[in-house]
Order: sequence, then C-alpha cells, then structure tokens
Amino acid sequence: MYKVEAIIREEKLQEVKAALQAIEVNGITVSQVMGCGAQGGYKETVRGTEIDINLIPKIKFDIAVSSEEWKDKTIEAISRAANTGEIGDGKIFSYKLEDVMRIRTRETGVAALN
Ligand SMILES: Nc1ncnc2c1ncn2[C@@H]1O[C@H](COP(=O)(O)OP(=O)(O)OP(=O)(O)O)[C@@H](O)[C@H]1O
Ligand SMILES: [Mg+2]
Repeated sequence: MYKVEAIIREEKLQEVKAALQAIEVNGITVSQVMGCGAQGGYKETVRGTEIDINLIPKIKFDIAVSSEEWKDKTIEAISRAANTGEIGDGKIFSYKLEDVMRIRTRETGVAALN
C-alpha cells in the first residue's frame, strides 16, 4: 500500500478531484493548508494577483492506494490535472503505507481499502 499526498493550487481543486474520480480511486481526504516552496511564498500569483506574504493557501489531497500500479496512476492523474507550468503548481509526496483499518468491519490492509 502507498500513501499519496499532493499539495496543489486552490483553483485546481475541482479539476484534480474530477481526475481522481475518473480513475475511480476509493477514497480521498482534502484539506485547506498554507505553505510555501522554493520561492518562500514570494512571487506567486493567487487569483491573478502577485502576493507578497510568505504562506500561500493551498489544497492538500491525501489518498491511500493498494498497489504501486495505483500509486503511479494516481500521481499521473494529479500531476496532469494540477499543472499550469507556472511556479507554485505544487508537489506530490508518496510513501509506503504500513496499515489501514476500516473501523466498521475491522478489516485491515488492502481489504480495508477495496
Ligand atoms: N519541501 C517541501 N516540504 C513540504 N511542503 C512543501 C515542500 N515544497 C513545497 N511544499 C508545499 O507545496 C506547496 C507548493 O510548492 P511549490 O509548487 O511552490 O514548490 P516549489 O518547489 O517552489 O516549485 P515551483 O518552483 O514550481 O514553485 C507549498 O506551498 C507547500 O505547501
Ligand atoms: Mg514555489
């Protein structure tokens, strides 16, 4: 199992969500977060205006998937949908996920994801 964590532009929320629905991921968590990358938050444009504060509102997606194949599909879908080519497009982190439990049934591991 893998965990995919993507930080994207606020205005890409719907597009990324649609791209994930299109590949039929089994669950997503979305959060409103603040962050900055290599530019320290400076020189990023938010809704057409260049802003000069150093923490910029972003959207974070957390997705747990059952296999390496699904991890790759998920990253591909997010990276295509979130790309504008401008600085501040975001980052995708992925790592091995040790376990998950579906609370209702107490299933664990891949069975809890599918
Ligand atoms: N090393 C990091 N660790 C944790 N979060 C990060 C890191 N880099 C970027 N982020 C998060 O991703 C968001 C978007 O980052 P951003 O796209 O600006 O990265 P970047 O490395 O500066 O790339 P670019 O040059 O394309 O802007 C940040 O606002 C922050 O929330
Ligand atoms: Mg940046």
